[in-house]
Amino acid sequence: MALTKGDIHLWDRLRKMQVIPSNPHVLELGEANWHGDVPLPPEIVCENPHDPFAVARAFYQHILNPATLTSIDMDGTEDAIKLNLNKWQFLRLPNCPFDITINSGTAEHVFNQANFFRIMHEWTKPAGLMVHATPIGAGWHSHGLYIHTIELFGLLALANEYSTLLTFYLDVDTGHIGNDVSLYARSVMYVAFRKEQDSTFRYPVQTPKRISDHPHFFDGIPGWFGPQDGYLQVYADAVRTAPLCAVFVEVGCWLGRSTAFLAVEIANSKKVIGLFVVDTFCTPGNEEMVNELAAHDGNVRAAFEANMSRSPTPVSVLECASTEAAANFIDASLEFCFIDASHDYESVKADILAWLPKIRPGGTLAGHDYDSETDPGVVQAVNECLAGRFFVFGRCWIVRV
Ligand SMILES: C[S@@+](CC[C@H](N)C(=O)[O-])C[C@H]1O[C@@H](n2cnc3c(N)ncnc32)[C@H](O)[C@@H]1O
Repeated sequence: MALTKGDIHLWDRLRKMQVIPSNPHVLELGEANWHGDVPLPPEIVCENPHDPFAVARAFYQHILNPATLTSIDMDGTEDAIKLNLNKWQFLRLPNCPFDITINSGTAEHVFNQANFFRIMHEWTKPAGLMVHATPIGAGWHSHGLYIHTIELFGLLALANEYSTLLTFYLDVDTGHIGNDVSLYARSVMYVAFRKEQDSTFRYPVQTPKRISDHPHFFDGIPGWFGPQDGYLQVYADAVRTAPLCAVFVEVGCWLGRSTAFLAVEIANSKKVIGLFVVDTFCTPGNEEMVNELAAHDGNVRAAFEANMSRSPTPVSVLECASTEAAANFIDASLEFCFIDASHDYESVKADILAWLPKIRPGGTLAGHDYDSETDPGVVQAVNECLAGRFFVFGRCWIVRV
């Protein structure tokens, strides 16, 4: 597919985030050409402005200053390597693995989806960038072989420990760029990942809903939990990928909004998962919580219990400080622990140090509000305690132990 205004926006944001490797070896899966919805930025010079492939190359040369730029395309120019992306490639390309791999509207035309995403994974270096631009919306029904969903990219990231650096949509009919796809019939979804680990490619797993499922009721409970920032997806994935018997701990449950979701997911999974929550039920984190505590005589435990009375899964409550509760668990005993308690640097650091040894090999420690603008203490503690071990999904930080 052709490069558009969305690509200018994408690389500009990644540049401001300072996440683009310098002098990278770059691989395009599908040779890009310039669409022409917007002119090439004036500072970029192309000697052959009427050739859309030359214009796209000039764009990448200017913004990435690549050591090498390799293109794979069965139908590309004479510069492109002609490989069939349906087939696993045994040949090692020069400069592979690459610092940056780009799927700019190619994957949806390749029948063998698993092979495409596996190639992209294996041909990207750890700490390298993986960029996707893919058509989304009913208006594309006759465009490719597939229309991708944000769910696909979310589960791909969770399965393979990619940090999601950014996602946004371009409405190609109006040129509007935003975060809400629902309005647009013909959008391009942009996703930028950083590959954090040198691991074998894992296929994402999506479990379809069954009619007999217990209905979710978290929406009626006040709190911060939801699908908007990856929190819900992290919980759903934890249940989906857990073994048949496991122990989960949620640190910071407040009125039970996030707990309610987890409890229903556990019941619907039919797995034997023991669920513990840890909370003082009296630690205010912001003004909203101060007011809520005042309305409940300084302790919200009874409100939590009332909200959770509909839970199809038994929940064991530890009403105490996080670090005190951690001492109740033997090391390497937990499958999943999620930290969403106090958000200041000292508390988050203490929580991570207390709970990390409790996770079994193969299990997950994660937490909420990895956001340097709203919660710098969380970011500082996670960066310091877990350097090189975590990845970011939405506003969640995640460590696979
Ligand atoms: C942001 S709220 C949790 C919200 C909940 N996960 C949700 O999304 O609905 C934080 C909770 O952590 C609790 N908390 C704060 N510091 C704590 C600590 N050191 N030990 C135990 N609980 C703590 C607070 O009482 C509060 O209920």
